[in-house]
Amino acid sequence: MKLLVTGGAGFIGSNFVLYMLQQHRDYEIVNVDALTYAGNLENIKAIEQNPKHTFVKADICDAAKMDELIGQGVDIVVNFAAESHVDRSILEPDVFVKTNVLGTQALLDAAKKHNVTKFVQVSTDEVYGTLGETGLFTEETPLTPNSPYSASKAGGDLLVRAYQETFGLPVNITRCSNNYGPYQFPEKLIPLIISKALNDQPLPVYGDGLNIRDWLYVEDHCSAIDLVIHEGVNGEVYNIGGNNERTNLHIIRTILEQLGKPESLITYVQERPGHDRRYGIDPAKIMTELGWKPKHNFETGIRETIAWYLDNKEWWTRIQSVKYEPYYAKQYSQRFEGTQ
Ligand code: NAD
Ligand code: TYD
Repeated sequence: MKLLVTGGAGFIGSNFVLYMLQQHRDYEIVNVDALTYAGNLENIKAIEQNPKHTFVKADICDAAKMDELIGQGVDIVVNFAAESHVDRSILEPDVFVKTNVLGTQALLDAAKKHNVTKFVQVSTDEVYGTLGETGLFTEETPLTPNSPYSASKAGGDLLVRAYQETFGLPVNITRCSNNYGPYQFPEKLIPLIISKALNDQPLPVYGDGLNIRDWLYVEDHCSAIDLVIHEGVNGEVYNIGGNNERTNLHIIRTILEQLGKPESLITYVQERPGHDRRYGIDPAKIMTELGWKPKHNFETGIRETIAWYLDNKEWWTRIQSVKYEPYYAKQYSQRFEGTQ
């Protein structure tokens, strides 16, 4: 079996490639990544010499390149490549539309031309918009994205659906809740808080800190996608989540407690525009129809994650100094103004 995985030098994609090469030792993986600020070859250093893994630096918007790569006997395409950070999508929406919509279309065209047996679009619960105090996102929840990030992901999802309906391309769309774990870029909440707290720096909390996200340990996301690749019914959408809803303040206090750092680091800053209040996944479909079950609950997952960031300080300090500081200054200088 030959897989083409896009975005495999990013957070979830690299975890997925490592996971799949362990689970299916006879599979061949072509890993395509443009190495944007979020892509990092260090994430896949362990498989540098693995003959079953080939890394190709390429942009998924490059239709000719995708055609060439998928034309080399690829059976399955798994599309992780995306611009993925909501705050960045507020600063520069155009690159989100380019990669998340047009890039997806370039991949779909190549997948259609070469008759792949499965195209899996890795999407997000954020396409459903925001929840009130009750209820959960099911696969039937209407798409109501609120950020340029989630709108561009919804656009990609709709194209994937259309290629199944119009051309009969065998597709699945997965919509997972917030992930956390090793190799997450330190712009996202959990690694940002761990790294800032370890440096005794202020921890920026948007709004009242009571927004809720539903957290899933990245390895559980990988196992769900593995299952969808092999067992997913063509054309179906599968929500992925482990019923781990937590407020942002709960997450931050848990990290502070485990690191032995004071709550005085918590700093309420300017609200994120269009900030979704609550996400919560109903995972009943993938659990009952495909038999998926997560292995980690939030308490074990966050402990393992904190331990990983403590053990891999070099990984994130290097990223912060090379790729992150100018962005942090731009994104947060105004946010911190007049707050405490
Ligand atoms: P990430 O930002 O860490 O990684 C994205 C990767 O895609 C990077 O390696 C980057 O270099 C690559 N990339 C970006 N644009 C590209 C392009 N035009 N061509 C080729 N490669 C390109 O993101 P992530 O958190 O690992 O998310 C991966 C996927 O999972 C995304 O599609 C995201 O929407 C989805 N998702 C993420 C979460 C989450 O909590 N992080 C939850 C649900 C779904
Ligand atoms: P994030 O990790 O950006 O994921 P998403 O917005 O895609 O769910 O943010 C998770 C939550 O944490 C979200 O409610 C915004 C909040 N947040 C902060 O309060 N401060 C921060 O500096 C960041 C990055 C996020």
